[in-house]
Amino acid sequence: MHFSIISVVPELLESPLGHSMIRRARDRGLLEIECVDLRTFGLGAYRQVDDYPYGGGAGMVLMAEPLVNCIENLKRQRTYDEIIYLTPDGKRFDQPMANRLSLNLNLMLICGHYKGIDQRVRDHWVSLEVSMGDYVLSGGEIAACALVDAVGRLIPGVLNDETSALSDSFQDGLLAPPVYTRPAEFRGFPVPGILLSGHQARIDEWRHEQALQRTAERRPDILGD
Ligand code: ADE
Repeated sequence: MHFSIISVVPELLESPLGHSMIRRARDRGLLEIECVDLRTFGLGAYRQVDDYPYGGGAGMVLMAEPLVNCIENLKRQRTYDEIIYLTPDGKRFDQPMANRLSLNLNLMLICGHYKGIDQRVRDHWVSLEVSMGDYVLSGGEIAACALVDAVGRLIPGVLNDETSALSDSFQDGLLAPPVYTRPAEFRGFPVPGILLSGHQARIDEWRHEQALQRTAERRPDILGD
């Protein structure tokens, strides 16, 4: 799977996408991530990428021309399944969306900055607008990293044990149950005895009950009727 990420601060993407699971997926050729510096497509001697908003108001807007030149340049190199703009007024990202996106081959992500991007790019070039939640980040980069991480780990072979993505919170519509590791007692607090029992069927049942209980307490909104 290939991601092309357009950003005015590509340095922000480097560390989150250069370690751990995502790094291993890249090293093994399961995942390609290309970070494109929008300034390369900036206009004039100063490589201008933003300008004042028509109608006045605070903040700058990323201009259509450098952005569209960048998008068109990328589109000449591959066929994108989606061109995604990260924005707080987009469709809320969740596990089903991550699952759906993980079935694609090529995704382009556009990170906004300042007051956002010229609406004409959103109207005519972007195919999907995605929000990471009801709060405003200073740019789309952190949102893009979250999307790449959540989607990238679903690509077959990225996780060591493929079933571990299936037992993630949200994959079965429930939050994940609590987990424990050694020692069996820590500062007087014991691990639930069932986990030490060796009865896998009862352990599975206990985990399911815990997941249900946790979901009912913390996220009743995602529980079905
Ligand atoms: N850019 C700024 N805030 C954002 C958010 N909440 N989600 C996605 N992109 C963003």
